[in-house]
Amino acid sequence: MSRIAYVNGRYLPHQAAAVHVEDRGYQFSDGVYEVCEVRDGCVIDQRRHLARLKRSLDELRIDMPMAEAALATVMRECVWRNRVRDGIIYLQITRGVARRDHAFPPPGTRPSVVITAHGLDVVGNERIAADGVAVITVADNRWQRVDIKSISLLPNVLAKQAARERGAKEAWFVDAEGNVTEGSSSNAWIVTKGGKVVTRPADHGILRGITRTVLIEVIGAQGLQLEERPFTVEEAYGAREAFLTSASQIVMPVVRIDEHPVGNGAPGSIATALRAEFHRHAEWT
Ligand code: PDD
Repeated sequence: MSRIAYVNGRYLPHQAAAVHVEDRGYQFSDGVYEVCEVRDGCVIDQRRHLARLKRSLDELRIDMPMAEAALATVMRECVWRNRVRDGIIYLQITRGVARRDHAFPPPGTRPSVVITAHGLDVVGNERIAADGVAVITVADNRWQRVDIKSISLLPNVLAKQAARERGAKEAWFVDAEGNVTEGSSSNAWIVTKGGKVVTRPADHGILRGITRTVLIEVIGAQGLQLEERPFTVEEAYGAREAFLTSASQIVMPVVRIDEHPVGNGAPGSIATALRAEFHRHAEWT
């Protein structure tokens, strides 16, 4: 089956889908994005993703290119046209096409909108979750506003590649104080020996993950104790459990951090339970 992409008002064959060479996303990374999970043909937490998209656009002073309801319709159409049952939607909005100049383009320049959707291997992902994944740690050398979901991801790209080259699935960024901030494309969590779930507060130093937000509800509903506070790499090495969260990986147990096995080196019971519970608390559209 051929894939279809939405580009600025048109549904195009994937092969032919393109933006202009002077798109500011291409030249300056001047844009934002969202990734939403699709499960059983439904979009997961669409309302929250669109709210975060609006916030990212506002922070960068890019106009919302169309009403949220219209964006939601296009997302649904992309899911349908690509016959995605379980997978992801990728949505990107840039400041548009204009002659190259670092400062904002002339008023009236239309933002560019690209939306794609593709399937994910749910069974394969469950198998990965059953084994757990390894992460490495790298210095957090990103800019100060990573709370904005911008398409400017070069440090994240380099960190993820470093992880791959060391046989790991994810890289956890570590700030100058030795605290873990987040993963290159996920939020980072540990469970202490006392059974408390710990994750860094959502300040400007991390992206406020939608999975993270929903999981905080799940943690409360499970009667678990949550501590939103920074944690060091050393504390993570000695944690009872560790896991990461993102729209595409839900709750993924972490079984090794650098050369240190986490707990007994197998996925922890809390991470496993939170993964199993997550979708009961998410919004399905
Ligand atoms: N990544 N932190 C970073 C740096 C991320 O890129 C992501 C998401 C998250 C988790 O956010 P959420 O729970 O809303 O997916 C945290 C997406 C999935 C990506 O870039 O593919």
